Amino acid sequence: MIQRLNTASVERLGRLRQSAGLRALTRETRWSARQLIQPVFFVEEASAAGPIASMPGIGRHALADAPRVADELQSAGVGGIMLFGVPATKDDLGSAASVATGVVPSAARRLRAAWPEAVIVADVCLCQYTAGGDCFVRDRQGPDPVATLERYADAAVAYAEAGVDLVAPSGMLDGSVAAIRAGLDRAGHVETGILAYAVKYASALYAPFRDAAASAPAAGDRRHHQLDPANRREALREALQDVAEGAEIVMVKPALAHADVIADLRARLSVPIAAYQVSGEYAMLESAVEKGWLDRRTVTLEWLTGLVRAGADIVITYYAAAAGRWLQEGETR
Ligand code: PBG
Ligand code: ZN
Repeated sequence: MIQRLNTASVERLGRLRQSAGLRALTRETRWSARQLIQPVFFVEEASAAGPIASMPGIGRHALADAPRVADELQSAGVGGIMLFGVPATKDDLGSAASVATGVVPSAARRLRAAWPEAVIVADVCLCQYTAGGDCFVRDRQGPDPVATLERYADAAVAYAEAGVDLVAPSGMLDGSVAAIRAGLDRAGHVETGILAYAVKYASALYAPFRDAAASAPAAGDRRHHQLDPANRREALREALQDVAEGAEIVMVKPALAHADVIADLRARLSVPIAAYQVSGEYAMLESAVEKGWLDRRTVTLEWLTGLVRAGADIVITYYAAAAGRWLQEGETR
């Protein structure tokens, strides 16, 4: 009797969890596949295509594969595609990054032809294109800022020329966004937007990507230009700066360990926020799935929901196409 009296007057949060209907009615976070972007690797040389050992299920695609990739993503209902190119040749200047007929422009044109409404995003960096795997053009001491920013701008123009909607500078070099905006405008590409890798932490979770894109630095790490994972206030300063330089969308990367930063940016900025669930996050789940320790579908949907709840409007994830298909199969959350 005493127990009944006590509980009758208190809030019982479990009441709204008792059925799937009540849970769906009161769910706070909803998202759709249209918010997801699938990163895709294209190789200039067809002989370099094939699987990536540390990223099961993700491949390096030949350019001729673009129509099939487009069909698969379109039928999964995803919002867009993020392009990474692996060129046939590398040099000290990263020249292949800005060739008008290079791997990224060629892939973009083929994807656009196969899927006219696609949102196509092109990563802009030099680490796949420089002989030493640097994200920048090097002079004797380190980055040569003038030559690097010029190459970034030229690459962005080449990608805009090929019809991408957004260019995504990922090098974290100061002034990248402003240089790219100026280059695009000068070339008449005022419509092309910028999705800035504004908050890119120096992370060990990019290792599988560097295998996939053949972009590992020959020496050292990227701590001198990527953000220290210990820093939260500096993340906000990076994002504010990129918005001031003209970024339409700002990204936080990696995603899972940095949801506080996603929430900070959501509270402080009015631009769309993207979260990038990176290659190492994908590899961790895939290895556990392979061992039978975790369930791919439920874990992925839980993670994506958490990132949207934290404040991400857009999630860039190697699970985009899979998640799109799961959502089509029915209510799972
Ligand atoms: C290139 C770039 C990287 C990623 C996206 N663009 C690698 C890096 O900075 O070392 C990582 C993506 C991933 O791990 O999935 N600058
Ligand atoms: Zn890079």
